[in-house]
Amino acid sequence: MKDAKTPVVEEKKEIKDKKAKFAKTEKRPVEPCDPDALIEVQHLTKQYGNLIVLNDISEKICSGEKVAIIGPSGSGKSTFLRCLNVLEDPTDGYVFFEGNNLCDLKVDINYQRRRMGMVFQQFNLFNNMTVLQNITFAPVHVGLQDLRRVKRRNLRTKIANLFRKSEKKEAFLPVQTSAQEIKAEAKENAMRLLRRIGLADKASAYPSTLSGGQRQRIAIVRALAMNPKVMLFDEPTSALDPEMVGEVLELIKELAEEGMTMVIVTHEMGFAREVATRVLFMDGGKIQEQGPPEQIFGAPQNERLQDFLSKVL
Ligand SMILES: Nc1ncnc2c1ncn2[C@@H]1O[C@H](COP(=O)(O)OP(=O)(O)OP(=O)(O)O)[C@@H](O)[C@H]1O
Ligand SMILES: [Mg+2]
Repeated sequence: MKDAKTPVVEEKKEIKDKKAKFAKTEKRPVEPCDPDALIEVQHLTKQYGNLIVLNDISEKICSGEKVAIIGPSGSGKSTFLRCLNVLEDPTDGYVFFEGNNLCDLKVDINYQRRRMGMVFQQFNLFNNMTVLQNITFAPVHVGLQDLRRVKRRNLRTKIANLFRKSEKKEAFLPVQTSAQEIKAEAKENAMRLLRRIGLADKASAYPSTLSGGQRQRIAIVRALAMNPKVMLFDEPTSALDPEMVGEVLELIKELAEEGMTMVIVTHEMGFAREVATRVLFMDGGKIQEQGPPEQIFGAPQNERLQDFLSKVL
């Protein structure tokens, strides 16, 4: 019993410490954010000890954009991407998603993160679950959580209404679905996504029995199952055997063509050139140069970018 409680106690302590630290630190004034930006970072800074990985970056990403991030190893590309959905806490600065400040502890970060799909280099599928369970896990979990929240709220209303005069009784929130419906809908959606990538026959297979390319495509549709507003990809093809890179890039390209907003850290320069609407070159904790692919690859201005391209192209 004691063991079961320990992680919860630790988690609460962690949140309390974080809040105390947050309260103590002098906060930078929040600048008004651009209503047209889907994601906006203001003065984003990330430090690990004395190492400054992101150095006062301010940037906006609008709906429909396909932003490719390129740069040498260790330049902070992954850190930048992880700061966008606050998987990494910025040391300083703010991250806004649809106008919500994700660094504000009052904002429900889990709720906001649901709309930001993330795909990692190493797939990060749950190996103890089938493909179908991997895809339905988050939508079912979130759906049931929302359902329980509505039911709890209605129960509170019911109890409070017992003590209210009839004209002051509060209305119940509508319960529009059931647990069975949530699960059936998630399964139907997952099967639709699997059919789309031609892997419907793998629904009951375990990830370990699939190729790297298949696993990564499943990781992508798992993120899509949450109906995200933006997809964040961190080198989605760099752990793949060369012959599997194409199928994953093809899927990402399709999503891009359908209008999905995406931020993609990549070493695939040909892909960035073809798919991106804007390319950011990062080095030394800063975005050193950015622009449309034709400019970045065709007429780079920054010396470090020229040097980088001469090595990778
Ligand atoms: N949790 C951490 N603790 C300490 N240092 C870290 C941590 N995460 C990243 N770093 C350091 O931050 C720097 C930037 O790392 P990051 O992973 O963002 O680079 P990157 O541009 O994605 O590189 P790559 O192309 O190799 O993936 C590196 O020097 C790295 O060692
Ligand atoms: Mg990286």
